Amino acid sequence: MNFTNKNVVITGGSAGIGLATAKTFIEKGANVLITGRNTDTLQTASVSINSPKLKTLSSDTSKLTDITLLAETVAANGNKVDVLVLNAGIAKQYLIEDTTEEVFDDLYNINVKGLFFTLQKLIPHLSEGASIVLISSGVSVSGYAQMGAYAATKSAVDAIARTAATELADRKIRVNVVAPGLTDTPMNQQTPADIKNAIAAAVPLKRIGQAEEIANAVVFLSSNEASYISGSYLAVDGGVTIRR
Ligand SMILES: NC(=O)c1ccc[n+]([C@@H]2O[C@H](COP(=O)([O-])OP(=O)(O)OC[C@H]3O[C@@H](n4cnc5c(N)ncnc54)[C@H](OP(=O)(O)O)[C@@H]3O)[C@@H](O)[C@H]2O)c1
Repeated sequence: MNFTNKNVVITGGSAGIGLATAKTFIEKGANVLITGRNTDTLQTASVSINSPKLKTLSSDTSKLTDITLLAETVAANGNKVDVLVLNAGIAKQYLIEDTTEEVFDDLYNINVKGLFFTLQKLIPHLSEGASIVLISSGVSVSGYAQMGAYAATKSAVDAIARTAATELADRKIRVNVVAPGLTDTPMNQQTPADIKNAIAAAVPLKRIGQAEEIANAVVFLSSNEASYISGSYLAVDGGVTIRR
């Protein structure tokens, strides 16, 4: 898979799955723009990738003004976007009965509203034949406790992807979903080891995922090798959704 001179935008590319995805695209020759809120984290990402092919932009996907800034930055570069990875997201775990309006709004503003309007504002800047990958989660099609609001945001992501795949097909733009299972990233730093081990034990492959394994799926779906794949939902979860 070769992405030489291809232009890639990854929201939430400063850590975890987004950062691993940025590294993989750069190794394959792409120019990559990553976003995130925290400028220190962006700087650390930049140092770790250490490539002139990487650009960073401080942009909060829950703010429409920041999304507009992202679109303006892309336009100012003068190149169309060949790959858009809508990855920025947060997770919060509460029983439905304990979920506050603030938690609900945080999840929806970032995972759904931010993703939707980033897609909207970048559509005019996509090249013909571009690839869009939306990062959902295995919880969008399962029923784990304490995932009510988060899982609902990811089901919304799946729905947005299906509509976008239909609406953008005339421009030969492919739209796919990658749905990770539990993956070892900063998002799960606070999860106690015994809980991670219990989750891993329930995975047919008996371990949790690595960010690079999710990145590989995103890169494949964005490549010419996936030229006839659009509207798909690819679970990257060690087989855990077999049991749903
Ligand atoms: N890790 C898992 O087990 C897992 C499983 C299934 C699905 N996912 C999904 O995979 C995606 C990436 O997760 P991850 O595990 O890599 O998370 P992570 O390690 O917490 O990294 C999240 C990235 O998104 C950025 N981000 C968060 N909120 C943002 C906002 N409002 N605007 C712009 N950037 C923002 C973060 O930077 P800042 O904080 O500096 O903004 C960071 O770069 C998410 O959509 C998540 O729901 C993860």
